Order: sequence, then structure tokens, then C-alpha cells
Amino acid sequence: MSKQILILPGDGIGPEIMAEAVKVLEVANSKFNLGFELSFDDLGGAAYDRYGVPLADETLERARAADAILLGAVGGPKWDTIDPALRPERGLLKIRSELGLFGNLRPAILYPQLAQASTLKPEVVSGLDILIVRELTGGIYFGKPRERTTLENGERMAFDTLPYSESEVRRIAKVGFDMAMVRNKKLCSVDKANVLASSQLWREVVEEVAKDYPEVELSHMYVDNAAMQLVRAPKQFDVMVTDNMFGDILSDQASMLTGSIGMLPSASLDVNNKGMYEPCHGSAPDIAGQGIANPLATILSVSMMLRYSFAQVAAADAIEQAVSQVLDQGLRTGDILSEGCRKVGTVEMGDAVVAALKNL
Ligand code: NAD
Ligand code: IPM
Ligand code: MN
Repeated sequence: MSKQILILPGDGIGPEIMAEAVKVLEVANSKFNLGFELSFDDLGGAAYDRYGVPLADETLERARAADAILLGAVGGPKWDTIDPALRPERGLLKIRSELGLFGNLRPAILYPQLAQASTLKPEVVSGLDILIVRELTGGIYFGKPRERTTLENGERMAFDTLPYSESEVRRIAKVGFDMAMVRNKKLCSVDKANVLASSQLWREVVEEVAKDYPEVELSHMYVDNAAMQLVRAPKQFDVMVTDNMFGDILSDQASMLTGSIGMLPSASLDVNNKGMYEPCHGSAPDIAGQGIANPLATILSVSMMLRYSFAQVAAADAIEQAVSQVLDQGLRTGDILSEGCRKVGTVEMGDAVVAALKNL
């Protein structure tokens, strides 16, 4: 039976990086007989321009029907001033929420070839392999009320709400522990339990879940300290589990340990491991249209898709190996460039991965 993959390129550099990821996916498809059928639709600003909404109902239905979704990135200055309810980012949040994609895996792995590309000292980052497990469908991103109002004195004011239920914390904590079990059995739960009620519940529930995982060494860390520890000594971490907003911030920070945000893929999974796969970075309006964006985060997201949604381990490994070979060849987009390497654009990087994959 064929498998349906829905491709949502999005905005800004989204279509540029997606074109390369699709090339790689198509080669993997034929080389490993995966039986994938690809279809395309719009999300974000592109969807707003085409359908008048950032996520059309028919797109959502296609996403529900698909076996997996591959997403580029959404957003950009063109849509920053429209009705906030119609912003591109709302389309992304809606598809995550509607599909129940609560478990966001963001691996920060340093390819040894990129030790010089990180802004941190090579000895601090060499051998780095950490996994951030981010809760993706709850917390302050979705809490209600969320409002803008006016105070009696005429001052503008706005508020957001940060709710977490026990079951939401339990299920993401389980993802964290399960991931730790197949890695180095160390889990660090990151919260702000010295201040926030939602974090106090978070810590309590994580402790309860820990009873089912006696082999995992659990620690707790406040998010401000975690941000500091990530740049001081990132290799102390194996798996980190945290809420929606903390995970958003810490994963961008962790990306720089690997050389660039252009290297960080992600998987967003539901209870049955149905998933949407996307780079952690955004639509990079500052470099969009120039053909210089790094497509590797999206290409590595394809690898995560093969691994997590389809258990195609050999194909997933092959893509990662192809990426590694291209880095061995010294090819670098601008964001990961270092001395002695050759600067290439988005297409040339994609072509090189395709060639390496074909030759494996
Ligand atoms: P960004 O991640 O788009 O860009 C931050 C910086 O990283 C920029 O200097 C950019 O040029 C660089 N960068 C990002 N990806 C790169 C790549 N593949 N290769 C080389 N350089 C890369 O974050 P931002 O500028 O804060 O946000 C821009 C827009 O993207 C906003 O509209 C934001 O809401 C949106 N956004 C979307 C997603 C997503 O779709 N998942 C994620 C983050 C931000
Ligand atoms: C990400 C992005 C999104 C988030 C935005 C665009 C809604 O930053 O995927 O990391 O904050 O989750
Ligand atoms: Mn982000």
C-alpha cells in the first residue's frame, strides 16, 4: 500500500529548502522502495494569500488523511500586520493542535565536521548529542484567556495564560522517559517551579511518572539555569523535557551548539507516532529568495520522518550518512562556513546530498 506524504513548503525560505528535501525524499523513495506518494499544499502566509486563512479546512483534512507531513517554515513581514488571528503562525499552531502533535523532538547533534562552525569552543561541543523534548500543544501558546484590553485609565493591556493539566504533563513526561530509555538514561526536566504554579504541577507529575522508569536518572532544573548550563557545559545533558515556550527558546539556543539553526530538524508526534516533520528554524525573511539557506535541517527532518513514522531505519540512516559525506567533502552553506571549506548555495547543497545518497 502506498503511503501519502503531504508537503507544505510555506513561506520565505520554506519553498527553497523544501525543494531540496523533496529531491532527497524522492531518491530515498525509489532507492528503498518506500512507496511514498507526495502531494503539495499551502500553509501560513502562502495559504492566507491563496485561501484567505493560514490553514484551510481542506488542507487540514488532507493533513489528517496523510501518513506523514513535511513542513518548511511559515511567516514573514508581509503578514506581520494582518489580523493576529489570521497570521501564518496561527496556521502552524492550528495544524499542530488539531492533529494532536503534542510530542516535539528536537535533536541537537554536532556533526564532528562542524566543530569549527559553532560559536562555542570545539572542546565544549565536540561529541554533543542531546534531545530536547518539547510539549507542543499546550501551555502559554494555547492558554485562554488570551486578550488585549484597555484599562480604566485608558492604558492598553494584554494577557496570556499558562495552563497545564496533569494528563498533558504526564504524556510528554512519558515521551521524555521513553526517549531517555533508548539513549543514555538521563532525563532533565526543565521548569520554573520556583515561581510558576503550572511548573509546580509539572515537577510533581514528572516525579510520579519517574516511578515507572527506575533506570532513568531524573534531574530537575530551572529554565534560567538550564539556559546557562546549555552554553557552559552542554554535554551534561542527554534528554531534556520541557514545556512549549521553554522548549521553543532552548531549542534555538541549542541549535547554535551544532553550528547553526540551519542544522536542527524536528519531529512532532501524536499518540500513535503519526507525525509532522519540520526544521526548527523559521522562514528566514532576511535571506529568502537568495538561494543561500541551509537545507540540511529539512533534509534531516526527512530522515526523522522515515525513522519515526515509517520505521525505515536503513533509509533514515542513509540520509544522515549522505549529509555527513557532503560535510566531509567540505561543502558549506554560509551559516556553517568555516576556514578551508567551500561555500555553496541551497541547490548545490541539496544536489550534493542527492548524489551522495544515490552512491551509497
Ligand atoms: P528564523 O529562524 O526564520 O531566522 C533566524 C536567523 O537564522 C535569521 O538570521 C536567518 O537568516 C537564520 N536562518 C534560519 N534558518 C536558516 C537556514 N536554513 N539557513 C541559514 N540561515 C538560517 O527566525 P525569525 O527571524 O525570528 O523569524 C522569521 C519568521 O519565521 C517569523 O515570521 C517567525 O514567526 C517565523 N518562524 C517560523 C517557524 C516555523 O515555521 N516553524 C519557526 C520559527 C520562526
Ligand atoms: C517553532 C516556531 C513556532 C513556535 C512559531 C512560528 C509559532 O518558533 O516551530 O519553533 O514558536 O513553536
Ligand atoms: Mn521556534
